Amino acid sequence: MRKSAPKKLKLTPGKKMRLNVDSNGGAQEVDETKSLLGDIGRLEDENRKLRSELKSTRRGSTLFSLLSDTIHNQPPFSTFTPYSSIIQKKGKVKESAMLVLSDSHGDQEILGKRVQNLEEYNFDIACLRAERIVDTTVSHLIDNMKNYKFERLYIAGLGDYVNGDIHNATEHSKWRNSLKNSMGMGELIAMMITDLSRYFPEIVFCSVSGNHGRRSFKKDYRGAQNNWDYLVAMHAATRLRNLVESGRCKIVVPDSWSMGLSVYDWNFVLNHGDDVRSWNSIPHYGIERKTRRLGAIGAVQGTTPNYFLYGHFHTASTTQHTTGEVILNGSWAATDEYALNSLGAYSEPFQWLLGVHPNYGVTWRMPIKLRKGTLAEEAKKKSRYAITLFEDHEQAEGDIVFRERNDKKIYL
Ligand SMILES: [Fe+2]
Repeated sequence: MRKSAPKKLKLTPGKKMRLNVDSNGGAQEVDETKSLLGDIGRLEDENRKLRSELKSTRRGSTLFSLLSDTIHNQPPFSTFTPYSSIIQKKGKVKESAMLVLSDSHGDQEILGKRVQNLEEYNFDIACLRAERIVDTTVSHLIDNMKNYKFERLYIAGLGDYVNGDIHNATEHSKWRNSLKNSMGMGELIAMMITDLSRYFPEIVFCSVSGNHGRRSFKKDYRGAQNNWDYLVAMHAATRLRNLVESGRCKIVVPDSWSMGLSVYDWNFVLNHGDDVRSWNSIPHYGIERKTRRLGAIGAVQGTTPNYFLYGHFHTASTTQHTTGEVILNGSWAATDEYALNSLGAYSEPFQWLLGVHPNYGVTWRMPIKLRKGTLAEEAKKKSRYAITLFEDHEQAEGDIVFRERNDKKIYL
């Protein structure tokens, strides 16, 4: 077949034209402006699509960091009266101090009438007792032990900060909402650490979860962070970000139910203690067995555990063992409906404060008594700690109400 001669084209003046030459040598006049406009349209469509994809990706992948930023930036720090200034001490004996923090069950509401008026406990009382812990720690380490210099304050968090949602506990809690209960308790711990940071150059807060905050029917041994105590610790960590970034606070929240902590060369094991078996409600033999076994496991790894810190039993005690000591922490409430009726249990609320010497290990132990005066006297007091986090946001939301559009009210 004879090829036809290429078509001769005349370029139109005034228009931006170009020639497209096909494989047969044929040429076609193309309006370049039109073609570019088409390209722009396509690119705009593509851009819109990519923007929408980016938006949804950002929404998903950065949810946690957005949450973190919101917690950090939005709400004003809850009300508390700060101490005046950092006191620089020149002590002769160098030690570190360790505050054992556990079993606050801060969101729990215990009514006196249900527990023979042996206890009255709610979040306001928890704030007062938190204040007692901070004030006693400061007055004991700074005012009483004038000959000591505490290089570091360790806070060994052993869980059960909140009552969680097992046994229908949320129904009898401060905010009736486990998220709020946990964030509120995290806020309280952040305020305690902020207060303490005025007196100690370095604070290390380690936290393991307890049994009350679990979010599975039975304990999930792979789910230490699937626990309300994890949210408490992470909320505190987020609120303390400035202190952490300044290098004055370190926060460790492991993905395990236990953790090892070396203070100088002394090895501490932190665990909530709910896995210790009891006989006739007495954990002594279970503790002895567990301690012995963990000691043997430590030997395999070439590490000797010296101090075992447990919460859970709500009774402060210490027991000597072969290579150190078992220290059981108390709770923030003396008893509750279950403890009193089912176990007949009542223990004065205590939390341990310990001194750790580089050569001698734990040298002194002070149980901080959390209740001061009678229950009636305590109920009249107002703590310098108050959680305003949620109300702040709820009030802010009230400002954005309605906007008129086409005579219709729409809610924003
Ligand atoms: Fe507990």
